[in-house]
This record gives sequence, structure tokens and C-alpha cells, in this order.
Amino acid sequence: MNAFLTSKWTKAGVFLLCLVPLANLIMEAIRGELTANPIEFVTHATGDWTLRFVVITLAVSPLRRILHIPQLIRFRRMLGLFAFFYGCLHFSMWIGVDKFFDWHDMIADVEKRRFITVGFLGFVLMIPLAITSTAGWIRRLGGRRWQMLHRAIYVTAAAGVIHYYWLVKSDVRKPLEYAYMVGALLAWRLGSWFYDKWQRPAAGAVSAKHPTTAEGI
Ligand code: HEM
Repeated sequence: MNAFLTSKWTKAGVFLLCLVPLANLIMEAIRGELTANPIEFVTHATGDWTLRFVVITLAVSPLRRILHIPQLIRFRRMLGLFAFFYGCLHFSMWIGVDKFFDWHDMIADVEKRRFITVGFLGFVLMIPLAITSTAGWIRRLGGRRWQMLHRAIYVTAAAGVIHYYWLVKSDVRKPLEYAYMVGALLAWRLGSWFYDKWQRPAAGAVSAKHPTTAEGI
């Protein structure tokens, strides 16, 4: 199991797997299966995958602790960057295909439509996270500051859910499913923070003083 999870081939496999939604969209486009409204179809598909990757990225820390598989951390950066990648595609659909780079129309949209405002916030917060996702940036910022910054992913996750909830007209089941997942993942973090603080105060003090890794988010 350890050899499998630490193999570079497994990482390459996960990378290819993350590209499947994009490959699927390209195949659907080639086969002319993007429905009568391809812009809406692609915007929805990329929005869905952005939120899914945010949720998957947030699930890494709980899974590695609950299932005792520390090696899962190797995949977290890649998963987070794929969330950003699909976010960029989603954003590009709106900016380029929907708005034709009309900045006035875009600013008006961000100001007027609350679901765009909150989606915009979620996307903008992903930019510094993607930029500072490298080991060099962890060193430069220091583990503690890096962790603080990367907690912005919680705001992106919440913004993504609210964005989705506000845009659907009647059937809110899917955004609510995401809300439960994000809620559970954030509640787990809060729970484990309290656990570390009160059950193991000495260990907590040591790791707070000398944070060397980016494992806390
Ligand atoms: C500048 C940022 C963003 C803009 C302009 C934007 C815009 C849009 C638009 C126009 C739609 C389709 C709405 C409709 O057809 O009524 C949409 C859907 C969606 N967006 Fe975004 N979005 C942004 C950021 C995000 C982010 C950061 C996430 C996730 C973290 C996200 C997740 C979704 C989801 C899940 C959907 C619905 C997909 C579905 O219906 O299956 N969006 N977005």
C-alpha cells in the first residue's frame, strides 16, 4: 500500500484522472453533445468540477487522519491546483464566451447579481493559494503564515456553495448536498482543532511554535 501511494506512477495516474472531466467535455464537444446551449452546458460542467475538486481537496486531511494514510498528503496540492484549473475554465467561459471581455458588463454583473459577486470572491481567493502552493512559498512564508493564508480555501468552499445555492431557481437539492459536505469537512476541522488544543496542549504548543509543514489545512 505504502509503495503504491508513494509511487510516482500513482501520482501520474491521479493527474490523468483529474483530466478526465476535461477530456469528457472535449469528447462531448466533438460529438456535438453540448446540448442546444453549449455555453450554459460548459459553464455548468466546469462550475460543478471546480466545486467537486474544492471538496475533494478539503477531504484529504480528514481522510488521511481518519484512515491513517498520511501518504494522501502527496496528492493534495495537485487536487487543489485542479480545483483552480477548472475554476479558471469556468471563469474563462463567463469572461470570454458569455461577456466577450466587456469589462463594464462584467463589473455590472459582479455588482448586481449576488451569485456572481460571491462566485467572484471564491475564485479570486483561489489565485494566491495557487501561486503560493509550492514548497518554496511554504519556506518563504513560514508554515504558520502559509497555513493561515491557505485557510482561505474554506471561504472559497463556502462561497462556491452559496454561489450555487443562489443561482438555482427552485431545486436546491444539489447545492444543499454540497453544503452538507463542506459543512461536515469544516466541522471536522473545528473538532480536531479543539481536540488538539485541549487533549494534547503540549503537542499543540510545540507545533504552533515550530510549524515546519503545511499539513494543518
Ligand atoms: C468569477 C467567478 C465566477 C463566475 C463569474 C461564475 C459564473 C457562473 C455562472 C454564470 C454560472 C451559470 C449560472 C446559470 O446558468 O444560471 C455558474 C454556475 C456554477 N458555478 Fe460559478 N462562477 C464563478 C465562480 C465559481 C466558483 C469559485 C465555484 C466553485 C467553487 C463555482 C461553482 C459553480 C457551480 C457549482 C455552478 C452550477 C453548476 C450546475 O448547475 O451544475 N463558480 N457560475
